Amino acid sequence: MLRIHRIRLLTALILPALTLLSLTGCRPVPPTPRSTTQPTATMSSTNLTSSEPITTPAADVYAANTRLGRGVNLGNALEAPREGEWGVILEEEDFRLIAEAGFDSIRLPTRWSAHTAEEAPYSIDPTFFERVDWAIHQALSHGLNVVLNIHHYDELFKDPQGQEARFLAIWQQIASRYADYPDTLYFEIANEPHDISPAVWNKLQAKAIGAIRESNPTRWLIVTPVDWSSHRRLQELVLPDEDRRLIVTFHYYLPFEFTHQGAEWVSGTEKWLGRKWTANTAERQNVMFDLDWAAKWGKDNNRPIYLGEFGAYSKADMDSRALWTSFVARQAEQRGMSWAYWEFRAGFGVYDYQRKQWREPLLKALLP
Ligand code: GLC
Repeated sequence: MLRIHRIRLLTALILPALTLLSLTGCRPVPPTPRSTTQPTATMSSTNLTSSEPITTPAADVYAANTRLGRGVNLGNALEAPREGEWGVILEEEDFRLIAEAGFDSIRLPTRWSAHTAEEAPYSIDPTFFERVDWAIHQALSHGLNVVLNIHHYDELFKDPQGQEARFLAIWQQIASRYADYPDTLYFEIANEPHDISPAVWNKLQAKAIGAIRESNPTRWLIVTPVDWSSHRRLQELVLPDEDRRLIVTFHYYLPFEFTHQGAEWVSGTEKWLGRKWTANTAERQNVMFDLDWAAKWGKDNNRPIYLGEFGAYSKADMDSRALWTSFVARQAEQRGMSWAYWEFRAGFGVYDYQRKQWREPLLKALLP
């Protein structure tokens, strides 16, 4: 609700047009056999290739959520209009570093709409698909679970009716391409639906679930409420009751004046520069209240919760960022939530790509 005027200033424009050139050398890694891609400590009993009904015991979906564990978003890469335009071109090293540090999963924000035809049958650009294949294979072969989403599909929220067929066609193509992939690949319906009513979004989300289920009857799916995936809008989230393979995600950036101080893509944030987060009683209580809210909804509705994004931008001071990050992560864990930090090596980065080193206070906050 706070995140209304989000204009992505192209900090990115400063970045050289070096980008796609170096992508041409990237070839997809051959599919990795399932047995080697499952994180060992968290094996699932789910047989993805069976045609078991989707009404499996709820415990399974809780285990699937637990497997996501502690994760990190590979932000600003495949979610940019073109990979590289926002300063990040994924490398094999990224996946190795993330796995070796001890993360369980990555979330892969992906802007499919920039690589999909405007006219039916809305074909996805094969070169882009191969790039996504490569990223998924990298993650799986490093033992990381993958959350693949549709990110920045703003046209969809502006014109849900006009874009519906295209949205569903995108999911049909993604779902059938990865239908045989291990169940360590999760699909997330859409990032941060906004400026759309819960009634319209609930219907659209249910249709996308239906489109995916045609080829992926047992895939773990991640779904979300409106208003930039706000925990306060969980109450209005309506899900297909019979589908017990759904994990519910929300994003957490509160207090927004702290986490988004100086964020160039949100107007008016420079006046918040200097805001600290000191973990005083009131600050801690606010976070606990919000996470309790989400946890209670999950409990009441028997749905596991994934905190798919949280983070504080680099314009805030490091002490505050580390305190806030560690507090949110621990509080989420205490409530049985899995999480993914926003993000790996751009403006919120837990990793400093220039210096080739982790930002230790943030890394320790995430993985103590
Ligand atoms: C959302 C946006 C992403 C942004 C992040 C933090 O995921 O899609 O572009 O960087 O939130 O504001």
